[in-house]
Amino acid sequence: MAVILDGKALAASVRAEIREEAAQLPRRPGIAVILVGDNPASQLYVRNKVKDCEECGFFSRRFDLPFDASEEELLGILSKLNADPRIDGVLVQLPLPPSFDERRIIEAIAPEKDVDAFHPLNVGRMVHGVSPIWPCTPAGIGVMLDAYHIPVDGKICVVVGRSNIVGKPMGLLLLSRNGTVIYCHQHTPDLAAMTRQADILVVAAGCRGLITADMVKEGAAVIDVAMNRDPETGKFTGDVCFDEVKDKASYITPVPGGVGPMTRAMLMRNVLSLAKLHMGLTT
Ligand code: GUN
Repeated sequence: MAVILDGKALAASVRAEIREEAAQLPRRPGIAVILVGDNPASQLYVRNKVKDCEECGFFSRRFDLPFDASEEELLGILSKLNADPRIDGVLVQLPLPPSFDERRIIEAIAPEKDVDAFHPLNVGRMVHGVSPIWPCTPAGIGVMLDAYHIPVDGKICVVVGRSNIVGKPMGLLLLSRNGTVIYCHQHTPDLAAMTRQADILVVAAGCRGLITADMVKEGAAVIDVAMNRDPETGKFTGDVCFDEVKDKASYITPVPGGVGPMTRAMLMRNVLSLAKLHMGLTT
């Protein structure tokens, strides 16, 4: 039976540390969160982010724009936030409605306030290993691996999924820790042959039941990023068949209660990091 990585408890302790550190600063770290449209999942995520800010003692502003808001309206808000000295981090909740050019919006966030590290300048810094922050989900997984003393150096790491938000930066983070990284995606011819090699398997495909026990190496660390809603029960499930894989892996994350809470905690940590940079306390 694998050790279950308790993201909920770890995230709570990370938030407590952040709150303590933030209280020592000359001013409150600040974040602006912008939601366009009424996607229920996004609304829940944004509500939670604002709640986390309160717990950490941060200043936060929330902007809600209607589904049919114009790109110019959003760009106008971003331009004001870029110039607002109370705001250290700006987050536009993705996905945006299809009428928006997501790339144009991400590139309109000042790189020094890009709390997701999605701006191409920050992605370039990440590739070069000089970014002060990482996107929240990979960062949270990195903290979890550290907390449970799961080594990456010299290990085979398989990442299933290649999104800009999770898969791609996840592979870069593992590479920066001297892992040997294999990216898998919909065009990978024999997924099981790849996943069976993994000492560390990170799955972010959004495909319920994708990873079965026969696809996992004995003793692997299995990290499930997905949040799929079971249409019958309405409950959240990951991409990994938890009940069968837990008996084969050494470590496994539950869904919910694994990666999700860590992603949220890392947003707070990224805001704190950017705030310290803006206050001249770090370089
Ligand atoms: N939508 C899903 N995950 C994320 C995230 O980490 N950041 C933003 N901005 N939007 C998201």
